[in-house]
Amino acid sequence: MATRKRLKKQVYIVLGIIVIIFIVSIVGINKYQEYKYHQTYEYKFLEQGYNANEVKILLNNIEEEKKLIFLLKEEKNSKIINILEEKYYLDKNFYNYIDYMQNNTELDAKEIVRNINIHLNYDFYETKLNTDTSVDTSMLVNKYYTLSNDYEPDDLVNVSQNYAWGDIGSQKVREVAYNAFLDMWNAAHDSGYYLMINSSYRSYADQEAVYENYKKISGESGADKIAARPGSSEHQTGLAIDIFSKTNTNKNTFADTEEAKWLANNAYKYGFILRYPEDKVDITGYSYEAWHYRYVGVDIATYIYKNDITFEEYYAYYIEK
Ligand code: DAL
Ligand code: ZN
Repeated sequence: MATRKRLKKQVYIVLGIIVIIFIVSIVGINKYQEYKYHQTYEYKFLEQGYNANEVKILLNNIEEEKKLIFLLKEEKNSKIINILEEKYYLDKNFYNYIDYMQNNTELDAKEIVRNINIHLNYDFYETKLNTDTSVDTSMLVNKYYTLSNDYEPDDLVNVSQNYAWGDIGSQKVREVAYNAFLDMWNAAHDSGYYLMINSSYRSYADQEAVYENYKKISGESGADKIAARPGSSEHQTGLAIDIFSKTNTNKNTFADTEEAKWLANNAYKYGFILRYPEDKVDITGYSYEAWHYRYVGVDIATYIYKNDITFEEYYAYYIEK
């Protein structure tokens, strides 16, 4: 009898121990899972105040761990989410976006991404970068990217006097741009317009003369709005042409002509872009030039036209390495 009782007691003890081990295990596993979750970026960003959707965007868009760690040390700022979701967001500019965002609180995410991508966080001519001529007709020349004084394209051709003023040889463009221009000229002609080129390739020295002339008349800041400093003009690429019509070469009134409107709406089909539009003055740094067209090829020109962006923005996202 005593033995049976002892046995029963031992069974209860064993069962008790099993139950205790079970409970301790459950609690332990839970605690461990909680501990593990607290180590995750998801938890840390939620703790920092980002909502679940924002955390998802952060984790889906940021691959490098050091960038997540960096963000955790910064104050929560939902504009970061908007920046990550911007169409032209470039991961290589991540830290610059954040820094620029913090110093320019009035700007929205789109402006932050754009300005950093195209170096607008620097004043014009403040930083000098070399134009990458290896990308050929996609090369960017502007107030940041410059050509050396001896850069000269090796496939310049003379523009026929049918399409340009001046003596033969006074107007030259790169062959690829000339062929495209001829197609465009013919299409314009079929629509009843007679286009005429009045400036095309300009050497470094030519541009120096143009710029200095404007500077004498309007001073440096006045000249900078209408002419490029030597090395910074697209005309040195042989891919830029100033197009007017046979009946109007007036920079003050050309924009209102039918020819200017036809060019603005059709040039992209031949690979040309209106390089300095009226609503992009702050981006390009130049006053509206209804006559200045730049050859970039049909695909790029079409994209720029349809998406209403500048060549600076396109270049930063699609061309620059
Ligand atoms: N007028 C344009 C900006 C140039 O000088 O290249
Ligand atoms: Zn021009």
